[in-house]
Amino acid sequence: MIGIFERGGLVAKVLVVTSGKGGVGKTTITANLGCTLAKMGEKVALIDADIGLKNLDVVLGLENRVVYTLLDVVQGRVKPQEALVRHKVLRNMYLLAASQIATKEMVSPEDMKALVKELERDFDYILIDSPAGIERGFRNAVSPAHMALVVTTPELTAISDADRVIGLLENFGFDDDSIKLVINRVKPKMIKSGDMLTQDDIKSALALDVLGIIPDSEDVIIATNKGIPVVLDGVPLTSTFENIARRLQGEAVPVEKDLKVSENKGFWDFFKHLFRRRGEK
Ligand SMILES: Nc1ncnc2c1ncn2[C@@H]1O[C@H](COP(=O)(O)OP(=O)(O)OP(=O)(O)O)[C@@H](O)[C@H]1O
Ligand SMILES: [Mg+2]
Repeated sequence: MIGIFERGGLVAKVLVVTSGKGGVGKTTITANLGCTLAKMGEKVALIDADIGLKNLDVVLGLENRVVYTLLDVVQGRVKPQEALVRHKVLRNMYLLAASQIATKEMVSPEDMKALVKELERDFDYILIDSPAGIERGFRNAVSPAHMALVVTTPELTAISDADRVIGLLENFGFDDDSIKLVINRVKPKMIKSGDMLTQDDIKSALALDVLGIIPDSEDVIIATNKGIPVVLDGVPLTSTFENIARRLQGEAVPVEKDLKVSENKGFWDFFKHLFRRRGEK
């Protein structure tokens, strides 16, 4: 199945979805962003680098279709293209599932780079779902990527862990332009009407570009339980992911568009306070 798509020598944009704190929404965002890009006509491969745990396949409703995993590829049993599982509805999206029996030590950053190299000509986007933590699994997930999406929730612990991961990514050679922040699970009860901040305010507050702001939504949990990514379930959150996808494609979609749902002065003051210190370092 080599050469699924003919792309005339172009290589994929390779993104890792990572975080400091666990459970902040990396897998949810990888699945939904992947689906959104695929809906827009991009050719997408999702790689579950959460070795030993695997759940990107479950979120995508593909767990019963997984035959080969990342470990089979790394150990040379099959070619990466043979291990890809095609999405049932979005036919230009594929998943490379994680192995539940493997441990993170069975895969190296070099293996991941070689894997991505083999796939990069077949896809427009390769999204890598990173495991929680900053050990070997993190290095595996991060090393083949050109860009890192750092997911955080609006909580002190998640933000300070995000800050730490940003420092690590910088050590890995990522510059400010290749690290983007995604703020997830912004709660409606934190929202009140008030001043709308500009993208510049946000940028200077966080010392990093904000790629998107995703509200906390019951729809995510309902969709996950159905094995259908929320953006395929026809809910309002779909437009948030579309904004994020369009920004990745290079379109200047203002972050204020996301703030329509999550605008909150107090919320931004909270962020400003924390991240300004980092910027001043
Ligand atoms: N915007 C959201 N609104 C409501 N629930 C959400 C949202 N984003 C994620 N969740 C829920 O939060 C939980 C954790 O999400 P997810 O598994 O995507 O996090 P993770 O960062 O991948 O976790 P881990 O670090 O364990 O890999 C899930 O139950 C998911 O449905
Ligand atoms: Mg996860």
